[in-house]
Amino acid sequence: MSEYKIVTAPHPALKQKSKAVSAVDDAVRAQMDAMLKTMYDAPGIGLAANQVGMLNRVLVMDLSKRDEGEEPSPICMANPEIIYKSEELSTMEEGCLSVPKQYADIERPKIVRVKYLDYNGKEAELEADNLLSHCVQHEIDHLDGILFIDYLSTLKRKMLLKKLDKLKKQNSL
Ligand code: NI
Repeated sequence: MSEYKIVTAPHPALKQKSKAVSAVDDAVRAQMDAMLKTMYDAPGIGLAANQVGMLNRVLVMDLSKRDEGEEPSPICMANPEIIYKSEELSTMEEGCLSVPKQYADIERPKIVRVKYLDYNGKEAELEADNLLSHCVQHEIDHLDGILFIDYLSTLKRKMLLKKLDKLKKQNSL
């Protein structure tokens, strides 16, 4: 199965808004499979198309604890749309495969409901809380060209990007 290369900030694909897919066809399914493999190998819990330089609204997630022997439990979404956000907020530390080794506390709605097309192209809904909620909001942000560091102050964001640049130059990512 093929695999993609994950792009890192400040790659321009990470700042672009992805376009809806017209249908979940075999090509989109192959993309979802390859994105899952890429995410598992990274390893990470979520990956959006922008992060592999593709600009269609596709994302994959898997929060199972695979390193502790849990079975994989992949979630594939095309054209995800948040249809409900709770007023209650939740703060969690987030990281991102496109901003490697950088972490920050991010505040988001605690619960969201998301409408999407699943792997088979069927309309589906997911209600997400806690980590899954942060993850799906983080991935949908990617499809809109938004990174978690965009929620930080300019100073903090610049600091993280500078640290990332230094790591890249030292070849220690
Ligand atoms: Ni990310």
